[in-house]
Amino acid sequence: MADDYYGFINQIRRKTGVDLSLYKEGQMKRRLTTLRDKRGFASFERYFQAISKDEDLFFEFLDRMTINVSEFYRNQKRWEILESKLLPDLMRGKKSLKVWSAACSTGEEPYTIAMVLSRYFPLRDIHILATDIDENVMKRAKTGVYPERSLKEVPHDIKDKYFKQIGNLYEVTDDIKKTVTFKKHNLLSDRYESNFDLIICRNVLIYFTEPAKNEVYKQFSQSLNKDGVLFVGSTEQIFNSHNYQFDIADTFFYKKKG
Ligand SMILES: C[S@@+](CC[C@H](N)C(=O)[O-])C[C@H]1O[C@@H](n2cnc3c(N)ncnc32)[C@H](O)[C@@H]1O
Repeated sequence: MADDYYGFINQIRRKTGVDLSLYKEGQMKRRLTTLRDKRGFASFERYFQAISKDEDLFFEFLDRMTINVSEFYRNQKRWEILESKLLPDLMRGKKSLKVWSAACSTGEEPYTIAMVLSRYFPLRDIHILATDIDENVMKRAKTGVYPERSLKEVPHDIKDKYFKQIGNLYEVTDDIKKTVTFKKHNLLSDRYESNFDLIICRNVLIYFTEPAKNEVYKQFSQSLNKDGVLFVGSTEQIFNSHNYQFDIADTFFYKKKG
């Protein structure tokens, strides 16, 4: 049975370029087995044959593999720390910051950072790179329309300023949308850009194996400017951060050593 799953991993790698062996096996296998069983396939071999022929099944598989949940100002206290403690140093003497929201999902995270930065920079000077492995979520991100529950942590003044209400839904205003460039990027295989002041990568590293995480941290460190900041998710402390030339700037924030 283990071979059945490893065979599937190889086939998926060839079909999509995504290497599932770099994701924690227990979690990933459980999630995909539940979906496979729900669709009535007794083996991963059969399931692969089916998703190769049926686009709906394939997109459903991709969706389940990637886990796309997000919200604006997720773990709001952390965004307050970013704003009050980290940004003043990061902004000193600068007219703009180079920012990357890695694994941005449906866009709540890059739009949040644009909204935070809008208090300090004119919107025309804000340029955020937002990437994800999943092109479908980025289509939704570009549309920028969200249910009310995604906005529950948004400060009132920001909600009034940067969202248009359409019935039960909320659309991010065009001036905020224009600050973000969305691009497809696989953290486990694509080249990383450099010279970032701030990299936000939250709630994806938890799914990666230790060796894969190690590689990602190394690359983030190389991509950051001296004193640049890495902002990770609220279960994602880096225990050996000095190995990557990081100082702990606050819980879940790491500063690249000079
Ligand atoms: C739970 S969401 C996190 C969204 C946002 N960062 C947040 O914290 O709210 C995880 C995202 O990671 C993306 N992802 C998974 N594997 C990836 C990889 N190898 N490279 C880039 N993105 C990946 C998924 O497509 C998904 O959109």
